Amino acid sequence: ARGSAAAPDLAGRHVVISAGGTREPLDPVRFLGNRSSGKQGYALARTAAARGARVTLIAANTGLPDPAGVDVVPVGTALQLREAVLKAAADADAVVMAAAVADFRPAVYAEGKIKKREGEQPAPVALVRNPDVLAELSAARPRPGQVIVGFAAETDDVLANGREKLRRKGCDLLVVNEVGERKTFGAEESEAVVLAADGAETPVPYGPKEALAEMIWDLTVPRLT
Ligand code: CTP
Ligand code: CA
Repeated sequence: ARGSAAAPDLAGRHVVISAGGTREPLDPVRFLGNRSSGKQGYALARTAAARGARVTLIAANTGLPDPAGVDVVPVGTALQLREAVLKAAADADAVVMAAAVADFRPAVYAEGKIKKREGEQPAPVALVRNPDVLAELSAARPRPGQVIVGFAAETDDVLANGREKLRRKGCDLLVVNEVGERKTFGAEESEAVVLAADGAETPVPYGPKEALAEMIWDLTVPRLT
């Protein structure tokens, strides 16, 4: 049943949500980043709080105002996000990884600003892999019975890619969005399919991010232990 103020189906639960996009610094003034707005994660935080949950929102570079009644932990990089999520997840009933976590970070951080030199080609930027927080959480299950939810933005064969990613990550639910020009990033509305490890597939029609957030909680609540 859909939760509301009258049926606070997340009362007594602690949920952890990551939102936004990480920034991986090259030097004190530059970073590698992505276009995630954080809006979906904030919608998840607002709706979870309205359904009675204690909410920890790990916010990566969103610039959005803190939602009322939510514990907000600001982070910058993927490594900082990992630390904050793992700490908050220790006693969480559910963890939703809505953040766009950079897969790579610059191999070296230049302590001083990188300068150009007349007549010299720029040095290539070497990258190293960041840890996969969702896969790590799904494997470790810091709290038994915890529900872990991931997001995937896909192109081409969206559903096949999503099913394969769900298996690879080992999470319980995977929210799959199709991305393309003008789709999803920064938009107010989105369309998705929620894939479950038990094989259930729930299409969510094009609509506000709040509606997708409510559907994610509707699918999470019956899986909580
Ligand atoms: N994620 C994560 N840590 C990373 C990368 C991604 O926790 N280092 C999480 C995201 O928050 C998201 C899910 O994993 O919930 C899927 O992210 P996505 O970028 O689609 O998955 P990847 O495994 O990085 O696959 P791809 O190569 O398609 O980017
Ligand atoms: Ca990725």
